[in-house]
Amino acid sequence: MIKILTEIIKRQLGDSDFDVRISENPERGHLSTNAAFVLAKEKKSSPMKIAEEVRSHLRKHAPTDFFEKIEIVEPGFVNIWLTDSAIKKEFRKIVTSKKWGKEGKKKETIIVEYSAPNIAKPMHVGHLRSTIIGDAVANTLEFLGYQAVRWNYIGDWGTQFGKLIVAYKLWGDKTKIKEDPLRAFGELYVKFHEEVKTHPELDKDGQEEFLKLEKGNKENRKLWIWFKKASLKEFAKVYDKLGVRFNTQIGESFFEKELDATIDLMVKAGIAKESEGALIVDLDDFGLPPAMARKSDGGTLYFTRDIANIHYRIKEYKPSEILYVVANEQTLHFSQIFATAQLLGFTGEEKGVKPIHVKFGLVLGEEGKKFSSREGRGIGLDEMLGASTDLAQKILEARKTGLKKKELKEVVKAVGLGAVKYNDLSQNRMSDIVFNWEKMLSFEGNSAPYLQYTYARLKSILRKAKRIPKLDTSILGESPDTAIVIKLAEFPSVLTRVKESYMPHYLANYLYELAKEINSFYQNEPVLSASSKLRGVRLNLVKASAETLKTGLTLLGIEAVERM
Ligand code: ARG
Repeated sequence: MIKILTEIIKRQLGDSDFDVRISENPERGHLSTNAAFVLAKEKKSSPMKIAEEVRSHLRKHAPTDFFEKIEIVEPGFVNIWLTDSAIKKEFRKIVTSKKWGKEGKKKETIIVEYSAPNIAKPMHVGHLRSTIIGDAVANTLEFLGYQAVRWNYIGDWGTQFGKLIVAYKLWGDKTKIKEDPLRAFGELYVKFHEEVKTHPELDKDGQEEFLKLEKGNKENRKLWIWFKKASLKEFAKVYDKLGVRFNTQIGESFFEKELDATIDLMVKAGIAKESEGALIVDLDDFGLPPAMARKSDGGTLYFTRDIANIHYRIKEYKPSEILYVVANEQTLHFSQIFATAQLLGFTGEEKGVKPIHVKFGLVLGEEGKKFSSREGRGIGLDEMLGASTDLAQKILEARKTGLKKKELKEVVKAVGLGAVKYNDLSQNRMSDIVFNWEKMLSFEGNSAPYLQYTYARLKSILRKAKRIPKLDTSILGESPDTAIVIKLAEFPSVLTRVKESYMPHYLANYLYELAKEINSFYQNEPVLSASSKLRGVRLNLVKASAETLKTGLTLLGIEAVERM
């Protein structure tokens, strides 16, 4: 119902950035909105005047018997009291819906590009963030009925492969590569960069080997295919562990054959100009530095491949949005891509496709420095997941859960992985996030284990109850019961907010609030021992809360376990 109210106000006043929230203080009603302030600013009018307009509009367009009263408070708050019958109706809607918050199929296709690691290199924490955030965003879009195309844009092309081929030919060790390909490749890169300091000619060799690869040289091609296969196999293991899947893994190399045509398009459109042998796109009008589409030696670039890529995506999928879940560090790159795409007429208002850089910050260690392992290099993903699961194991064993060995193992996995994911998803993705093991794995506070534990507790109540009676709202208790119903009613509008901002932390924080409320509810109010009618109402509340928690966790890519 919060979503309905938001939509009514939007219809009246346009798509501004206001919200309808649950009031923190019951003296200010069940809900309140800041719409009047936001709109007063935009329309340069007084908030009190707009608040009046909002009130009369709400009264006119909301379903009948919806508002107990709507109060306007200086300097422009609109506080809303709902009628008993509106709350009861909403409760019935929540309880009878197959899956609360889920929406029907929509026609729009949204491409969500995430993960996108580079082959022949271990994935780093940045790729992990992209994978976790992208997956949560794609899950939410699908839940809201959009067709999400999950795209892992593999970094499988570029001059670095020339270097790797040189290094392999000089120092490569087949058995080592077979044992642990990504580590072996990583070592070869390191060796190359060390050697190049004293043998600068190696750089040129690297360029030559890459050129040979580009021209289709058999030996190099074979090596490259091997590097790629071995890498993808390793990546698949990681995705398996994370429980993440993709619809396509088309990578940079795929666009090799489109590059001439892409450059042609740029030249024909008159946006690319020769400059000292290279081809440059001037982006002055966008306040951006020029982008290079072709190097003076004829080599193409990351930029050009991305232009070919966006062109292809629009042609093949006719998406309404293309999301690039990539670190902040590439902001300039994407600004240049989006500006060029607009100049080429691929995108723009009337084309109905919006490219969006869904950016995120760094991962910091506990001391606030860039996250790294003891040896100083970026910590590997495996290492991190391993550490988290080990810690989860210790904590769960100390808690004496009474779980059988097999189930405990599953729970350890869910908690270890959930902690890493939730730590990422509960923080605003734009900011650098801090890695704090203790907080991540704490059973109290804003953490995955806390939410998982809450879910398991609710399930235990439901198991004890055995049968959940059909909902009879005739005696829906006063607050705190009502407060939980309204909290549950907020869920769909939270999902909409995630969709509009591509920020999963709104969902994470909502789940945390819901968990806190339902926890204190069942600790303070009798559920199983309440009188029969109230017991029925409360069991239904507990059930709906458990289901909503599970839905939300699942959207975040986190498993809800039945016992813990
Ligand atoms: N592979 C790149 C990297 O690891 C990320 C790719 C980002 N996506 C894109 N369309 N350029 O830095």
